[in-house]
Amino acid sequence: MGQRRYNCILLLITFASILGLTVSTLNEFSIINYKGISEGRGLELFEQWAKKHGKVYGCMEEKEKRLLNFIENLHYVLENNIYVKDSGHQVGLNVFADMNNDEFKEIYTPKRIMKKKPKLGGERRASKVSCETPMSLDWRKKGVVTGVKNQGQCGSCWSFSSTGAMEGINAICTGDLISLSEQELIDCDTTNEGCDGGYMDYAFEWVINNGGIDSESDYPYTGLEGVCNVTKEEIKLVTIDGYEDVDPSEGALLCAVVKQPISVGIDGSSLDFQLYTGGIYDGDCSSNPNDIDHAVLIVGYGSQGSTDYWIVKNSWGTSWGMEGYIYIKRNTELPYGVCAINAMASYPTKQSYAPTPYPSPTIPPPPPPPPSPSPSQCGDFSFCPSDETCCCLVEFSNYCFVYGCCLYENAVCCANNIYCCPQDYPICDVEGGLCLQNSADKIGVAAKKRTLAKHKFPWTKSKETLNSDELLLWKS
Ligand SMILES: *[C@@H]1O[C@H](CO)[C@@H](O)[C@H](O)[C@H]1NC(C)=O
Repeated sequence: MGQRRYNCILLLITFASILGLTVSTLNEFSIINYKGISEGRGLELFEQWAKKHGKVYGCMEEKEKRLLNFIENLHYVLENNIYVKDSGHQVGLNVFADMNNDEFKEIYTPKRIMKKKPKLGGERRASKVSCETPMSLDWRKKGVVTGVKNQGQCGSCWSFSSTGAMEGINAICTGDLISLSEQELIDCDTTNEGCDGGYMDYAFEWVINNGGIDSESDYPYTGLEGVCNVTKEEIKLVTIDGYEDVDPSEGALLCAVVKQPISVGIDGSSLDFQLYTGGIYDGDCSSNPNDIDHAVLIVGYGSQGSTDYWIVKNSWGTSWGMEGYIYIKRNTELPYGVCAINAMASYPTKQSYAPTPYPSPTIPPPPPPPPSPSPSQCGDFSFCPSDETCCCLVEFSNYCFVYGCCLYENAVCCANNIYCCPQDYPICDVEGGLCLQNSADKIGVAAKKRTLAKHKFPWTKSKETLNSDELLLWKS
């Protein structure tokens, strides 16, 4: 009994001293007289800010606590934007300006979200580290990125990163941009932990096993962990076929982003990141993969002068960053990139030969696959090496007079009788000399010109030894 009372008194004293400290700090306001911001101006800014962001505080204590956080953040913003000139990014009084960094971290980047790297059961890693890339790319302009969403006070960034990547690949393959349900992942995916965190790879795996995922509009976001609605779980509106991890390197990540929006893990826990409002971020954050605590989506890249950046979609609403986006510096010396953005990238896969929404008049019918083993037989009298494709060079009335060879296996022969395109970029942009994945794309790979097929006259038919000698030559 006595013991308990002692505890109570101690508690009371502690509480009173905390309260006293808070009130006295608030009353002194000496810290507000800092770099020209007066007490009155600080309060005024806070009131304006609260109004702009629709903040209403339940009680006076709460408001005072928020005001103190706000003033501290105001100092940080002033110091970093005005007194440190050469920072590549700006911080400001955004939607998180009334939170101190500890509580921000607790809610938005809890360490438990991505502490360990998911075990991957034998998925292929996309190890391609060099590829043809345009100078810049913005998937938003290609209509495959939904609007910025807001996870609210739930540690569900992983679900937003996952849906973003699936929305992207689905739109690229089918032409339909469908906003997908994070809530289904939070409620139904038991391999992840809802508002307590998760992994994008686990979410992709779950969607594959479930046979698809429902739309945002049918299974909307609540920001709370709920009971899985099995009726909605049965609605498999969008499917994916698989997923792959990207090798943790700048080059591999770039090659992946050229194909589709990519899920990445980052360290997003610093005050600098919390208050980010614009510019190319190269600020406070860890580039150690073990410090990854947040998940976002890369939707493109670009350059400003000599500084290169990723275009990154976050899930903190449009009142953070640049309308919800951040540019993160790329091409640095850091092995895992700024904020470890290269370290944990992955993406869902979907067959790209699904019915294309952009029927293009320039798509020629795919050539009949060369029937003979090797070399490829073109008509009766010519042939191409086994790893090339026969495409007609001179055609009349559906009859090919002169055959050419394309330097791709199972290539697409473009309708102009000059170019050919690889199988995975099947749409010929004859004017641009490009091969595209969708006819609306602005980027692709260069189309290749056909070379004249070798002639095989009837009298050489029996000379098999000569043919196989030539075959060896081609391969060397
Ligand atoms: C689940 O979804 C169905 C159909 O959308 C709805 O009618 C039902 O009320 C939901 N169940 C629960 C438990 O919310």
